[in-house]
Amino acid sequence: MKTIIEPFRIKSVEPIKFTTAAQRAKVLKRAHYDPFLLRAEDVLIDLLTDSGTSAMSAAQWAGIMEGDESYAGAKSFFRFEKIVKELTGFKHVIPVHQGRGAEKILFTLVGGKGRRIPNNTHFDTTRANVEYSGAEAVELLNVQGKDPQVVADFKGNLDLAALEVFIRKTGVKNIPLGMITVTNNAGGGQPVSMANIRATSALLRKHRIPFFIDACRFAENAWFIKWREQGYANRSVKSIAREMFSYADGCTMSAKKDGLANIGGFLCTNDDSIAQQEKDLLILTEGFPTYGGLAGRDLEAIAVGLNAALEEDYLRYRIASTAFLGNHIAAEGVPIVQPPGGHAIYLDARAFLPHICASQFPGVALANELYLEGGIRSVEIGTLMFGEHAQMDLVRLAIPRRVYTQSHIEYVVEVILDVWRRRNAISGYQLVQQAAFLRHFTARLAPRSGRT
Ligand SMILES: Cc1ncc(COP(=O)(O)O)c(C=O)c1O
Repeated sequence: MKTIIEPFRIKSVEPIKFTTAAQRAKVLKRAHYDPFLLRAEDVLIDLLTDSGTSAMSAAQWAGIMEGDESYAGAKSFFRFEKIVKELTGFKHVIPVHQGRGAEKILFTLVGGKGRRIPNNTHFDTTRANVEYSGAEAVELLNVQGKDPQVVADFKGNLDLAALEVFIRKTGVKNIPLGMITVTNNAGGGQPVSMANIRATSALLRKHRIPFFIDACRFAENAWFIKWREQGYANRSVKSIAREMFSYADGCTMSAKKDGLANIGGFLCTNDDSIAQQEKDLLILTEGFPTYGGLAGRDLEAIAVGLNAALEEDYLRYRIASTAFLGNHIAAEGVPIVQPPGGHAIYLDARAFLPHICASQFPGVALANELYLEGGIRSVEIGTLMFGEHAQMDLVRLAIPRRVYTQSHIEYVVEVILDVWRRRNAISGYQLVQQAAFLRHFTARLAPRSGRT
C-alpha cells in the first residue's frame, strides 16, 4: 500500500513563531506553569486541544459567505437542522455556542441533588456541569480502559455489568439519563464499539432511562468501528454513525471537534416536552432557537463540516497521522495510552516520570517540559484536571484537524524523545492558587525543584 498523505493542499498559511529556550522559560514562568495561560503566539506547535482549532475548507468558507444573519428563522438554521437530522435522526435540534452550552441546559433540566448520571468517562466540562447542578457524575469505564498499557480495540466501552449494579443500587427514579462519550476523551481518545452502544441502550431502555451520546468525535468513533468491529468493514462511515445515533434518545455535541468548525454545537432529543423546556432555557442563556448563540455563518460552517468529517480519505489520513506519532515514540519506549487514540496521543505521565507522585502533578511536569524543550503545548489530563477523581495522569497531545503537516508531527516526535532521554532530572509541581471548579484552566503552580 502507498503512503497515506494529507488529502488536501494548502491554500492559505499562518506563520508560527520560533522562540529560544530562554524565552520559553520566561513566558512559562509568567504563565504560572499552566500551559492554558501561555499566549498562543509563544507556542510553536499547539497541541493543547483539537477543539475549535480545525482548518476550515474552502467549501466551509464559501458556506460562511452564505450565512443568513436574520435573528429568527434564518435559512442557515434550516440548512444546519436538515444536516444534523439527516445524520442523527433526532427529532429536535437545538443549536448552542459549544458543547458545554448543551451540557449546561441539559443538566439544569435533568440534574439536581440526589440524581446520578453514569457515563464511560465524563469529560471535564460534562462532569463540572453535572456537579454544578447538584447531581453526581458516575464513571463506569470498562476495566481495560483504565490500564494505559493494555492494547484492545474498544477501550472506551462502558462496563455493562457495573451499569446493571449501578441501576439496581441507585434506583431508576434517581437516574435521569445515561451517557456514553465517543470517543472517550478523558480516557485516551479510545473508541466505543457498536455492540457496547447497542447493549447500553438496551439496558437503559429496559428501565426507561433515556440514553444520550456525547458525540463530539462521532466520526472518528465510526471510523474505528468500521475497521475494528466485525460486520462493519463494508459499511460507509456515515451509515455507521447513523446507526450509533439510532440507539440513543438524544445527544450533546461540540461541533468544534468532528464538526470541523471553530465554534458551535448542538443538543438533540426525541422528547417533545424536554425539547420545549430546553428551548425555553436556550432563550434565557444562549439565544433564539434558530441561532442558539451562533451567527448564521457558524451554522453554515458546521453544516458543511459535519459531512466533511465523515469523508473516508480524511479519516484515513487523520487516524494514520495520530498513530504515526504514537507508534514512533512508543517504539523508543515512551509510555503512551495504547493503542493510539483518534484525535490525540496520551503520554502516561505516571510511567514516564515514576519518581513524581500524583500529588506533585507528573502530567503538569511533563507538559511543561515539552514546552520548554521545543515550544509544544499540550494539556494535563490527570490530578490537576480531575483532582481525586483522576484515575491516570496523562498528557494529551491533541492534533488539530488539517492544521499540521507530517514534518510538524516528526518534529513533535523528536522533542518528546529529547525529553524522554532526560526524564530522570524532571521534578514535580505544587499548586499555589486554584479556582473552585475546572481549576486546570486558571491554576497557578510552582516547580518543587526550587526553579524560579
Ligand atoms: C468529550 C467532550 N465532551 C464535551 C466537551 C465540551 O465541548 P466544548 O469545549 O465545545 O464546550 C469536550 C471538549 O473538549 C469534550 O471533549
